Amino acid sequence: MAAHCAQKILFYFIQAVLLLDKGSVSGEEVRMRLVEEPINLGNQQWNAPSQPKTLVPKVQFSNFSGPPHLQRLKGKCFSLVQNDYKYDLCPFQNVTQHEQSLRWNPYSGILGIYEEWEIVNNTFHAMVFKDGDECGEKTRQIKVQLKCGTKNEIDSVGEPVTCEYAMTFRTPLVCHEHSMLVYPNLDEDLQAEWNELEGRLYREEVTQQGYKKMLHKIFESAGFVLSPNFKPIPAKQDHEAHPDDFTSLDTCKDEYRKLNAEVERLKSELDSRMNQPGAGMSVNDYEKDKYDLYDDL
Ligand SMILES: *[C@@H]1O[C@H](CO)[C@@H](O)[C@H](O)[C@H]1NC(C)=O
Ligand SMILES: *[C@@H]1O[C@H](CO)[C@@H](O)[C@H](O)[C@H]1NC(C)=O
Ligand SMILES: *[C@@H]1O[C@H](CO)[C@@H](O)[C@H](O)[C@H]1NC(C)=O
Repeated sequence: MAAHCAQKILFYFIQAVLLLDKGSVSGEEVRMRLVEEPINLGNQQWNAPSQPKTLVPKVQFSNFSGPPHLQRLKGKCFSLVQNDYKYDLCPFQNVTQHEQSLRWNPYSGILGIYEEWEIVNNTFHAMVFKDGDECGEKTRQIKVQLKCGTKNEIDSVGEPVTCEYAMTFRTPLVCHEHSMLVYPNLDEDLQAEWNELEGRLYREEVTQQGYKKMLHKIFESAGFVLSPNFKPIPAKQDHEAHPDDFTSLDTCKDEYRKLNAEVERLKSELDSRMNQPGAGMSVNDYEKDKYDLYDDL
């Protein structure tokens, strides 16, 4: 309800600004302009995709693990703009998505927080980011596959399953053919455990399923993957209210009062322009809208 109020206020305000800019056209045309060319409002502060809302992660990211030379990617962030969305990847931390639109309240959200490696064929295959923004019953998540490239850059992003994203990141750090193998990145004890496990599999003392389970345990001990029972640690939440969020009807009404004062100022300026020769419309058109707004509040 508050959001609706805010939108209504904003619409009304923008209309007033437009009327002021286009003082000589009719109210009808002004409204069409607003729909067709919102980009021409030239008023960045309403939606400013360059200043995304502060995103608050729900869970803590896991500690770094995996091939040590990849640690140098931590703390860095990489961006890609694709199909009107900007994606920010901060390896071993988070992935976010920002709609590059000038519409009111463009989407900006968390696709996932780093949790673990996906290991395929005893190779580090992808960084797994989970517990992103809600998406119906589930939460968004993204797997970031690392591939050899001449420089660090996001190659592409897709959404193979609704709210389950897949990203490819290119980096020279994974070009050596053995750099992403799991075995050399284990300490001696865990390597010995794995050797023994291979022996037991060979002698058929464990089933394939048992082997997979025990191998997973070895990867867990190394910190590469999480235990199936792992519950993510909630992130420290910052409950500070942002003054520009219309979070309650009260703040909405406050904002309304402020905007209304500004509108009154613009209106009197408009009135004085209307009285100049050549001005063809009355202010009654949007006077009417204003009372509609009072009804809504
Ligand atoms: C994502 O990680 C970057 C890099 O450390 C950090 O600056 C940013 O605040 C994080 N964003 C979220 C939403 O956690
Ligand atoms: C990261 O490691 C520290 C100490 O090694 C540990 O106390 C902490 O719980 C770990 N954090 C996570 C999210 O696993
Ligand atoms: C796993 O590795 C083997 C041997 O290197 C290879 O033949 C097989 O295609 C790989 N499987 C996958 C799913 O990559």
